[in-house]
Amino acid sequence: MPLDDEARRILRLNDKGSYTVPTAGLYPYQWNWDSAFAALGFASFDVGRAWVELETLFSGQWANGMVPHILFHRDDPGYFPGPGIWGTEGVAGKGEGRVASSGISQPPVAASLAWRIYGCDPALGLPRLRALFPRLMAFHRWFVAARAESGAVATTHPWETGRDNSPDWDAPLAANDPVGVAPYTRRDTGHVNARMRPTKEDYDRYIWLVQFGRARGWDDAAIAVESPFRMADPTLTFILLRACRDLGAAADVLGEDRAEIDGWIAHLEAGAETLWNPETGAYDSRNLRTGALSGSVSNASFLCWWAGLTDPRPIPTLRRILGAAPFAVPSFDPEHPKFDTLRYWRGPVWAVMNTMIGLGMEEQGLGPQAARIKADTARLISENGFAEYFDPVNGTPAGGGTFTWTAAVWLAWASPSAGEG
Ligand code: DGY
Repeated sequence: MPLDDEARRILRLNDKGSYTVPTAGLYPYQWNWDSAFAALGFASFDVGRAWVELETLFSGQWANGMVPHILFHRDDPGYFPGPGIWGTEGVAGKGEGRVASSGISQPPVAASLAWRIYGCDPALGLPRLRALFPRLMAFHRWFVAARAESGAVATTHPWETGRDNSPDWDAPLAANDPVGVAPYTRRDTGHVNARMRPTKEDYDRYIWLVQFGRARGWDDAAIAVESPFRMADPTLTFILLRACRDLGAAADVLGEDRAEIDGWIAHLEAGAETLWNPETGAYDSRNLRTGALSGSVSNASFLCWWAGLTDPRPIPTLRRILGAAPFAVPSFDPEHPKFDTLRYWRGPVWAVMNTMIGLGMEEQGLGPQAARIKADTARLISENGFAEYFDPVNGTPAGGGTFTWTAAVWLAWASPSAGEG
């Protein structure tokens, strides 16, 4: 199928040998969850290369278990903020001799996708999964210890959630005046239309939070106590919960003890419930400084089924959102005044989120709605190309082009030939 060929071409185009960039120019390094999805895409035609992708990602793991959101394998002046701004060199949590990196993590989808990749070729995958298992354990242990004090997983930076400029973060960011941000030049708006990217007000605050973490040597305990930004997030919570379930399945196959994993699952399930918002009828973000829920419905709300929760409560809200958007699933509620069809995580559809939402819904008996989400994803890609994200009203491709994770989930899920391999 020509689109399958094009998707494979994009993965090869963005392949730097042992890791894959999301797209040249805009994102010239290895991003954590992008890379895990790249691995899933490779697994549809080269399972060995898929494992290499994950192994390279975990080669950047910090001594404390954290897997950074960006690994700066080689310098590229086309991206801001680069390694010099993050200042992670020599910090205690990182340890000696590690790959240059950012100081925060990203949605920990790696264990879930490693488990799927293992299923593509168990004979080839068994030793690779066995070797990766202790690293995945250390990553999850770090997340639970450093971020899940409320049960739900908290973030210290919007970039950590992957949903950088979601309206979920507007109130906590606005409450903080970004005083003392060193002058900087954005690079992202040199690559794509500024109308599709976060605003300058957002960026000032992103950089302020980077400076804040850096000033504390990226010490998780200090940041947890002192940062004005501490948001319990459904993306991180649901993705970690699912990843713990998949890590538990891996433990069973490997003959490893899973008691610690089961403890994490129970902790996160209780935490997920703290994100339920009866007023919106959806899972929401919670500000751990004020206790307030954001009051917004995002695509992260519908990752609850991917997390393995059997919960019918969000179904009416799902129906409303599906009814309001010509293309599902918009990253933000189309009936909310802050909905913006093109601006990154304030409205556009993201194919990777659709993949997790759709797979989770199928598992939880929501087949017809899941089929709609998959059909919309396939149509968006086949009519508009492998864009970073899409306008949910008219399908306009937005952000970066020739995008790795869009190509990857096409091959692994949205293509009519997916799963035939
Ligand atoms: C960016 O630079 O826009 C990224 O999303 C940060 O990870």
